[in-house]
Amino acid sequence: MTTERRKFEHIRICLEEDVQSKYNYLEDLSFVHSALPEINFDEIDTGIKLFGKHLSFPLFISAMTGGTDEALKINKSLAKACQKTGIGMGLGSQRAMIEDNSLTYTYDIRKYAKDILLIGNIGLPQFVKGYTEKEAIYAVEAVKADMLAVHLNSLQEVSQPEGDLFFKDGISILRGLKEKLPFPLIAKETGAGISKETAEKLTFLDGVDVAGLGGTSWSAVEYYRSSEYKETVKRLWNWGIPTPLSIAECRTSGVKIIIGSGGVRTGFDIAKCIALGAQACGIALPFLKLAVEENVDGLVQKIETIKREFKIAMFLNSCQSPSDLRNRPLFLTGDLAKLMHQRGMDFHYFNYR
Ligand SMILES: Cc1cc2nc3c(=O)[nH]c(=O)nc-3n(C[C@H](O)[C@H](O)[C@H](O)COP(=O)(O)O)c2cc1C
Repeated sequence: MTTERRKFEHIRICLEEDVQSKYNYLEDLSFVHSALPEINFDEIDTGIKLFGKHLSFPLFISAMTGGTDEALKINKSLAKACQKTGIGMGLGSQRAMIEDNSLTYTYDIRKYAKDILLIGNIGLPQFVKGYTEKEAIYAVEAVKADMLAVHLNSLQEVSQPEGDLFFKDGISILRGLKEKLPFPLIAKETGAGISKETAEKLTFLDGVDVAGLGGTSWSAVEYYRSSEYKETVKRLWNWGIPTPLSIAECRTSGVKIIIGSGGVRTGFDIAKCIALGAQACGIALPFLKLAVEENVDGLVQKIETIKREFKIAMFLNSCQSPSDLRNRPLFLTGDLAKLMHQRGMDFHYFNYR
C-alpha cells in the first residue's frame, strides 16, 4: 500500500471510529483551588515564547497530515486557524514529499500562516534506513518551517502489517542530526509516551514531545485497518505511558523543553500539563473533523474556547503568566497516583508548593 493511500485510510478511520485510549489520565489531576487569586482576569498574559516564536497561549496543533490534495486542504485550514489565533502547528510526516518532491506543495502552507511556529516531521525509521541531514534540511527549508520533530512511533509501526521496524542506533542518529542541523530538533512520540530513562538519553536535543497515552491510540487506528493479527493489535490499544506521568518523568530527566500531548482536550488540561512540568501542549484529533470540512471559523472558535479555559485555570490558580503554573499545588488521584508511586515519584513536590 502506498504512503498516500495509508494516510487517507488513517484519516477516514480517525473520523469514523472511536480511536482513543480507554482512559485519559489527565482526569486524575486537579488543582488546589485558590479562593483569593489576588489578580485581575484581564491582566493575565497567556502568551509564551517557544523555540523563538511567540504563541498567544501554550498550544500548537500536533502533526497530522500531508502528501495528498485532501491533506493540503486540511493543512491549509489548520494553518489559517493557527495564524488567526496565534498558536503553532506541526506538519504531518513529510516522507511523501521527500520521496516525491512534486508533493511538497501539499505541506507548503507558510503563505497562510506567516508568523506561526511551524514544525516539520519525519519518522526515525526513515533515518535508520538512510535519510541524512540532507532530507531533514529539505523537509524544513522547502516549506519554511522553523524546526523539525523526528517521530518515534515503534508502537504504530509494529501494529501495521507493512510497518517500518527499523529503530537501531536511533540515539546516535539523532545525535548526529542535532550536530548538523541549523534549526531546533525535537523527538516526538505518537501516543505511547516517553519515559524518564528514554528522556535522559535525549538531553542533547532541543526538547521532547511526550505524545503519551490518553488520546489517539495508533494501535486502535491500525486495529480498524488490519486483517492480520487483529486480536494482537487490539491488545496494544492501551499500551503506553500516560501523558501526565510521562511529563512528570521527563521533568527530572534534564531535557530542555517538554511538550505535553496525547489526550489534551481542554484549556484546563493544558494548565495541568504545565503544572507538571511541560512548557507547551499539542492537540491533534479534536481538530481533524473541522479541518476536513475546511471550517476555519469553527477551528478558530474551538481554539479560542480552549484559550479561555486556559486563562480561567490561570486565574483560579492566581497565575499572571503560564510559567507561574509550575509551582501551583495539584491533587494526584486514581491510577495516575498509583503509577507515579510505583515509579518512585515524590508526590509532596506536587501536593505542597
Ligand atoms: C490523523 C492523524 C495523523 C497523524 N499523523 C502523524 C504524523 O504524520 N506524524 C506524527 O508525528 N504524528 C502524527 N499523529 C500523532 C499526533 O501528532 C499526536 O501525537 C497524537 O495523535 C496524540 O494527540 P491527540 O490525542 O491530541 O490526537 C497523527 C494523528 C492523527 C490523529
